Amino acid sequence: MAERKATNIKWQDSQVKRDEREKILGQRGCVAWLTGLPGSGKTTIAQHVEQKLIHRGVACYVLDGDNVRHGLNEDLGFSQEDRQENIRRISEVAKLFADAAVVTLTAFISPYRDDRFKARKIAPEGRFFEVFVDTPLDECKKRDPKGHYKKAEEGIIKNFTGVNAPYEPPDIPELRITTMGSTPEESADQVIAFLEEQGILPGAAASSGSTA
Ligand code: ADX
Repeated sequence: MAERKATNIKWQDSQVKRDEREKILGQRGCVAWLTGLPGSGKTTIAQHVEQKLIHRGVACYVLDGDNVRHGLNEDLGFSQEDRQENIRRISEVAKLFADAAVVTLTAFISPYRDDRFKARKIAPEGRFFEVFVDTPLDECKKRDPKGHYKKAEEGIIKNFTGVNAPYEPPDIPELRITTMGSTPEESADQVIAFLEEQGILPGAAASSGSTA
């Protein structure tokens, strides 16, 4: 866990309050935190949600594990400690996006319950939704979209989640998506319907004009 090194720093409050920002911009920020095994469908679902919302005129952005590890978190690997730091940094980034009124989707395995709990605490209150992409391990292994399970089972990839590193499923996620028997698009619609129910997004009928 990173330790704060700077001492002579003071928090600067924004002149724009959250309500004001959201009212003027006509949308609400949140963190929809997708978690699940490798190959469960997190990235695919998040990308479909992003595409649909952008086409509805809603600022939405996906923070994705593979992508973030190309830049911000390029110094981190897959030990428990590095995964914790990966999730901690993303939690802070997601909070900033949500503060900026962006509908933020995160697509990280985030295998540890405690790290996800910390992400919830970092996010703006009441704006964090844990979305469990609940695809059984056997199915993820069958799909193996990147060939990683095969390599992990051959011992080529170490600490691979689901093979030789743990995954702790959420106990009570706000939303559980079972991907067996549905298309990624249908799963994305489930996420969008959920965000509508939560009052984050206006209902589809209202979204073409209303910004309330
Ligand atoms: S997390 O566990 O720290 O949340 P994250 O979502 O950022 O993981 O990254 C997972 C991605 O890294 C996977 O989609 C996969 O492509 C790649 N990867 C490479 N090595 C591993 C590994 N040992 N365990 C899991 N994913 C790995």
